[in-house]
Order: sequence, then C-alpha cells, then structure tokens
Amino acid sequence: MKKVFVKSYGCQMNVYDAERMADVLATEGYSETAAMEDADLVILNTCHIREKAAEKVYSELGRVRELKQERAHQGQDTKVIVAGCVAQAEGREILHRASVVDVVVGPQSYHHLPELLRKAQTERVVDTEFPIEDKFDHLPQPSRQKTLSRGVSAFLTIQEGCDKFCTFCVVPYTRGAEVSRPVAKILDEAMRLADAGVRELTLIGQNVNAYHGEGPDGLVWSLGRLLRRLAEVPGIVRLRYTTSHPRDMDEELIAAHGDLPALMPYLHLPVQSGSDRILDAMNRRHTGDEYRRLIERIRAVRPNLALSSDFIVGFPGETEADFEDTMRLVADVGFTSSFSFKYSPRPGTPAADIAEQVPEAVKAERLARLQNLLETQRQAFNHGTVGQTLDVLLEKPGRHPGQMAGKSPYLQPVHFESDAHRIGEVVTVRIVRAGSNSLFGEWVKAGDRVAA
Ligand code: SAH
Ligand code: SF4
Ligand code: F3S
Repeated sequence: MKKVFVKSYGCQMNVYDAERMADVLATEGYSETAAMEDADLVILNTCHIREKAAEKVYSELGRVRELKQERAHQGQDTKVIVAGCVAQAEGREILHRASVVDVVVGPQSYHHLPELLRKAQTERVVDTEFPIEDKFDHLPQPSRQKTLSRGVSAFLTIQEGCDKFCTFCVVPYTRGAEVSRPVAKILDEAMRLADAGVRELTLIGQNVNAYHGEGPDGLVWSLGRLLRRLAEVPGIVRLRYTTSHPRDMDEELIAAHGDLPALMPYLHLPVQSGSDRILDAMNRRHTGDEYRRLIERIRAVRPNLALSSDFIVGFPGETEADFEDTMRLVADVGFTSSFSFKYSPRPGTPAADIAEQVPEAVKAERLARLQNLLETQRQAFNHGTVGQTLDVLLEKPGRHPGQMAGKSPYLQPVHFESDAHRIGEVVTVRIVRAGSNSLFGEWVKAGDRVAA
C-alpha cells in the first residue's frame, strides 16, 4: 500500500483540510504515515498568514529534497505536493523556487488530487483555480473506523473564505470570498461524526459567525440558528465555533450563548487592537468600546463566559499611546488565553504599503509586554478554577496508567485518576491543582456532588 505524509501549518481549517486530503487519497489506495521518510507522497499543507509561516515551507522543502534523493537511491519514487494558502498565494512561483515540488494545489481544489497526481507522472502541475463546483460534494467521507481514530472532538467546516478585507490580512486572497455550506450538508456530516462516536463539534470557518447557509426550509440560516439545530443531534454534547469577527455577533448568536448548554462558555473573538485609530486603519469596523459592550452583552446571558483573542502589535503607525490602549482593553476585558503576533507585512495587502512601519525592536518590546499581561491573566484564570467542579470531556488516557485526560469547558487540559470511565464520557471533576498548562483534579461521584 502506498503511504502519504501530510504536514499542516496554520489554522484549524488546515487541520480539517488535511483530513479531507487523506480521505481522498485513501480512495486512491494511500494510507497515512506519521514518518515522512516512509512516504511515497509528501504533502505540505501551508499557511501564508505571516512571513515566518510562509518561509517555513521553503526550509521544509529543503529537507524533503534530501529525503527524495535518498529514496531515489533506493529506487523509490516520492511525489511532493504543496497545498494550502502559500500554494494559493504563490502558485507557479513555488515550482520555480523549489525544483522538488511536483504539484501545487490551492484549498478549493483538493477534490482534484487524484487527477493531479495522475498528471504529475509526466509533468509538474499547478491548480489554484476557484472552481464553480462545490469541493465538498466531491470529497469522500472517511470510514467510521477512521473517524473514530481521530478522536471524540472533531472540526467541521461550515463556512470558508472572508469578505472582510482587514488591511493586514491575506486570507480573503488565499481562501477567496465567503461561502457557507448548506445546513443539510452540515447536519449530515454532524450526524455521521456523532454516529462514529464524536461528542464535541467545533464549527470552523475563516469568519464562521458570518455563516449564512441555505436552510432546509429554503430560508437563510444564521450561525445561531444552526447551533440550535446541531445541539439536537443525538450524541453531540459540546459545541464550539471559531474564528469569529466582532461585527458578526448578531442577536440570535448571543441568545444561543444563553440558551444552549451544549454551546461551551468559551469564545475566541479576535480584537487585534484596543486603539480606535489602529482598528480603523485595520478596517476592523468597530471601536474598542464597541468590543467591550459586545462582551458585556454576551456575559449578560452567559456570566461564566471565558474569552480568548488574537492581537497584532506594531501595525503600521501604532504609537506607544495606541499600544497602551490595547493593554487597557486587555485589562478591562480579561482573556483566558490568546494569540499575539508582531505585525508582518504581507505582499498584496494594503497595510504593507503604509510608509510608517514600526521598527522590529519596538514590535518585539511591545509583544513581550502584551504577552506578559496575557500570560498573567491566563495563569490567574487557571488558578481560579482550583476548588471548582468542572465537566471534563474525556479524550485519551493520561500520562500514567489509571489516569485519564480530557478538556474542561474552557479547553483547559484536565488530568485525574480513574479506571471507571471511558473516552467520550463527560465526567464531573473537582480541580485540586493548576499546573502551568494543565489542571489536575479528582472525580466527583454523583453522591458527592451536593456536598461539594
Ligand atoms: N479570521 C480571523 C483571523 C484569521 S488569521 C479573524 O478575523 O480574526 C489569525 C490571526 O493571525 C489574526 O487574528 C491576526 O491576529 C493574525 N494575523 C493575520 N495577519 C497578520 C499579519 N499580517 N501580521 C501579523 N499577524 C497577522
Ligand atoms: Fe483576515 Fe479575519 Fe480580517 Fe478576514 S476577518 S480579513 S480572515 S483577519
Ligand atoms: Fe494560514 Fe490560510 Fe489558515 S493563511 S491561518 S492556513 S486560512
């Protein structure tokens, strides 16, 4: 049997896409391997979001090239595919820069993989079209066994692409315009996942709360309505969605946070900056105060809501005062975990052409200050859970025999001793200790609960 090795960079969408590519290739007789040196087919599923992410591809291709040569000496052929957002952004350029690459394929064309591989027997090929047909209609479903092996928590793409055009961001160019999958297709996939043992669904999209898919009633459904329907799917006990834009948090979605116990009280809602001037220059189309008020509205219906965010420091023109506005917003809102980055100018985006770029040293210094504050908040939140009882979705065995590991509603890894539970169960655990990245607790038996 031929083997395929897929390495993904970037966001959850790439993780999901990697599985879909593996599913297509399974129909062509490929099985997955975790060892690149064993692979007849190597796929790098790339990310273009920051310069560093994009450059990683070329250093990895250097390694792949050596491997391909070694395998060739042993008489084995290796095909190399660059997929993902660098493929979409750079296309044929990749073939010029890296002679090892056989196929370049953009995210909208993964269903063409079998055909592209056939062509690659005789020529180097590039497919970065945005085809009219829906790739999801052509991507095969994995076996029940395969789904099960991927764990009790699954990603489900419901929306792809972005129409927001934040001035720093490549995504609208690499993933194209916003497209929402129809409700019926999402429901089918959710039911298939649940039937195979999946208990938690994370709905994903580049701008997932802009979801506006066609419902079975012929009307346009919002994300709030879709979540309500998915909460009824037997077996699904937890729902999450990511990544959202503050502008698309509508009434129906906010209400869902109050009404749906399955919708976890943890929201990733990127704000990027706390300065109104910078938010405007970023084309985010909201102010810092509007973000604060929005959070208050969601917390009014879900008081235990925890938040995470993305931040960019050193956007062109960002002054010390602007940066302090970001620090103030972080202090006001309080985040339990976040991602923060130095601004990276990306070719073809408006912000890259702004003259007042912030010096690298200033960016580094601001990033360190921001990360320090965010880390303090994260630790405080984790320590604050000590003494609380949390529901834990069991995902895998723990580090030692007799231990189980799972996730809290806030996505914190939780470990506790148990030989009475199975993966996929939700167990009530009293947290007794917070480590730097995980929580440790003890199982609260039904009868103990009142006393706790
Ligand atoms: N759709 C999401 C973001 C996707 S990109 C949203 O709207 O928030 C993930 C994160 O990468 C962004 O939130 C942003 O913080 C960061 N990012 C995007 N472009 C960047 C750039 N040019 N430089 C630095 N960070 C960037
Ligand atoms: Fe990029 Fe997100 Fe802005 Fe879209 S909304 S342009 S994906 S940062
Ligand atoms: Fe990267 Fe593309 Fe995701 S640029 S963050 S892999 S949408």
